[in-house]
Amino acid sequence: MRIIKLNAIDSTNSYLKQLSMEEFIADDTIVVANYQTQGRGQMGTSWVSTDSKNLMFSVFKEVSFLPAEQSFYISIATSLAIIKALEQFLIPKLRVKWPNDILSENKKICGVLIENVIKQSHLKATIIGIGLNVNQTDFNNLPKASSLHLLTGKVFDLDEVLRVILENLTFYFNLLKEEKYQELKDTYESLLFRKDKPSTFKNAEGSLFSGFIKSISNSGNLQVLLEDDVLKEFDLKEVSLLY
Ligand code: BTN
Repeated sequence: MRIIKLNAIDSTNSYLKQLSMEEFIADDTIVVANYQTQGRGQMGTSWVSTDSKNLMFSVFKEVSFLPAEQSFYISIATSLAIIKALEQFLIPKLRVKWPNDILSENKKICGVLIENVIKQSHLKATIIGIGLNVNQTDFNNLPKASSLHLLTGKVFDLDEVLRVILENLTFYFNLLKEEKYQELKDTYESLLFRKDKPSTFKNAEGSLFSGFIKSISNSGNLQVLLEDDVLKEFDLKEVSLLY
């Protein structure tokens, strides 16, 4: 494991992506930054964390053992690793909001941006970007966000939190290598935010509809039981869960 520590960078994901185009990168190369000037989130959003009290890092993992159709298992293994790590710090009521937002007590504390490196239509590696709100004390205009500190009243050592997350990532990626797909999916589904609860979704056209989250397909689509008792599958571009 090689850890590169930087003070400021545009984005730790972009840094690893660039590096992987220029040179060979070893499995488990990690980049951590105190500040990001152009932090990126899912679906082209930005990740703003002006606070060096939080963790921002990316992990380069070699995943050529994983068939491309199973690439959602990277999200599953990552979400589980984060949740299991945070459980060790006694963070309450942890859930994963599909596909990989980590919530505690219904508030977002961690975002994940996964960018796969594909060569000749084979999955080669993945860059897992993790932004975790650790010691931040206020989220003025973000009522649905929180931090480990706000949830527990404790001040956390960033290196210690990073160490435990990396340890759990290794554990869950080993399960992935051992093809424990069913076990990983079952655990992920048991931790899904709003599973089996009446929920409201927004489709790509912006209309709202209701349903119950039931499960995840093998390709990572969300399976929702609609009001007319039909089970329908949605991919990330088709739907977002509102509440
Ligand atoms: C999201 O919730 O939309 C995902 C946010 C991911 C943020 C992290 S911070 C470290 C890494 N570098 C980035 O530019 N993004 C990820």
